[in-house]
Amino acid sequence: RNSASATRHADLSQCPVAEALFRETLRMHPASSLLPRRATQELQLGQRRIPAGTSLGIPLLHFSTSPLLHEAPDQFRLARWLQRTGPIRPVDMLQFGSGPHVCIGYHLVWLELVQFGIALALTMHKAGVRPRLLSDAEKGRRYYPTAQPSMKIRIGFS
Ligand code: HEM
Repeated sequence: RNSASATRHADLSQCPVAEALFRETLRMHPASSLLPRRATQELQLGQRRIPAGTSLGIPLLHFSTSPLLHEAPDQFRLARWLQRTGPIRPVDMLQFGSGPHVCIGYHLVWLELVQFGIALALTMHKAGVRPRLLSDAEKGRRYYPTAQPSMKIRIGFS
């Protein structure tokens, strides 16, 4: 399929690698690592009693990198999405929240980032270059208040 003509939702959904890139990047690096909440009434969470008024943080990063939910969670694996047979689970979309306040921009950002991935790959292919990490990405991870790469990370194209 000619990916250069992929501009509509139906075209983009035929580009599984770009979609897997979108899902796997946000799984390992959720833009927001924590959702703040306040308990409006007393709750029982497992063994714990949470009094009304307690401030809670829902750890999205913990869920999206949990071995209970994802095989080999520390590995960046496009295959986990490409080879998937079942539907996308709500927990796979937790980076966008859940329930009544789920992200209203999900479909827009899906469209933008899948299209961006395709455009970037096509541009690099045309220029005959590949991206290369020039510094240690592990040391550059920042998750608070929102996920962001360190300014020290350098990517080269050659
Ligand atoms: C990768 C990009 C994005 C991520 C990871 C993301 C993530 C989230 C998350 C986790 C929430 C839930 C917050 C909560 O429950 O406390 C949220 C809500 C929201 N998002 Fe996004 N978002 C993204 C892009 C966008 C875009 C592009 C728009 C608008 C064009 C948008 C608009 C909103 C709005 C309005 C809400 C609040 C919904 C409500 O409270 O009813 N988001 N987003």
